[in-house]
Amino acid sequence: MEVYSEKQQITATLKALRAENKTIGLVPTMGALHEGHLQLVKTALLENDNVVVSIFVNPTQFDNKEDLEKYPRTFENDMALLKDISETRILIYAPTVEDMYEGDLKSQKFDFDGLEFEMEGKFRAGHFDGVGTIVKRFFEIIQPNNAYFGEKDFQQLAIIKKMVEKHDIPVNIVPCAIFRETSGLAMSSRNVRLKPEYQKAAPFIYETLTTAKIKFGTESANDVTQWVEKQFSSQKLLKLEYFIIADSETLKTVENKVKSKKYRAFIAVYADDIRLIDNIALN
Ligand code: PAF
Repeated sequence: MEVYSEKQQITATLKALRAENKTIGLVPTMGALHEGHLQLVKTALLENDNVVVSIFVNPTQFDNKEDLEKYPRTFENDMALLKDISETRILIYAPTVEDMYEGDLKSQKFDFDGLEFEMEGKFRAGHFDGVGTIVKRFFEIIQPNNAYFGEKDFQQLAIIKKMVEKHDIPVNIVPCAIFRETSGLAMSSRNVRLKPEYQKAAPFIYETLTTAKIKFGTESANDVTQWVEKQFSSQKLLKLEYFIIADSETLKTVENKVKSKKYRAFIAVYADDIRLIDNIALN
């Protein structure tokens, strides 16, 4: 399994693969791979001849320095996990910050038609400009046919689709369902940092989302939101940052339900100093 750290090397290899008409899938990650990432890689391998897995902890998408410093880095383990899936068809691209930013550690400013101002955008200043900058750079370097993103970061997925559309980037974006622990907790690289008591408490997030979904069948968005807020107010270990029921397309908070629209519930919770997000389709 080849590991590349410089764009000149990987672009040369990819050029040769494209000359042989091979299709290329991209799974962008920040490493600390878990089963959710591996599912993206397996799906990408089914749909492409070769798959590039990028491993890069992108500084410009962190609004919090401590979160960036504490972000788990498990490169050796990541390599072993990928090697178990395919030794021949996966290319790992693990660039340096210098290789990606060339001395100019700044994000590009994007207009995602307002998607960037909802939910995560309200709580993580500059986050989506950082994500857009790095993903666009990966698309330029790798030029994948298909790129795979998990629905756990549903807003990120919507923003990337918007970027591809607005910037005319020739790549097919493939959304992949959320992968969960047996407890229901959405898989995240941050989960390994949860202390045992928080690990025990965190499945409450998905439990609450599933009940909220049932309630949404008969109750208003506002009543369901108030119910969720009440459930979290009696939780000692979990601090609710937001719970929002939004239109799946515009990501705008729902005032009145309309039958023809698709809705989703989104949640962000602090477990100790670890921020966990999750979401669920409601109809
Ligand atoms: O979802 C992530 O892990 C990151 O936001 C991504 C897409 C790899 C960009 O750094």
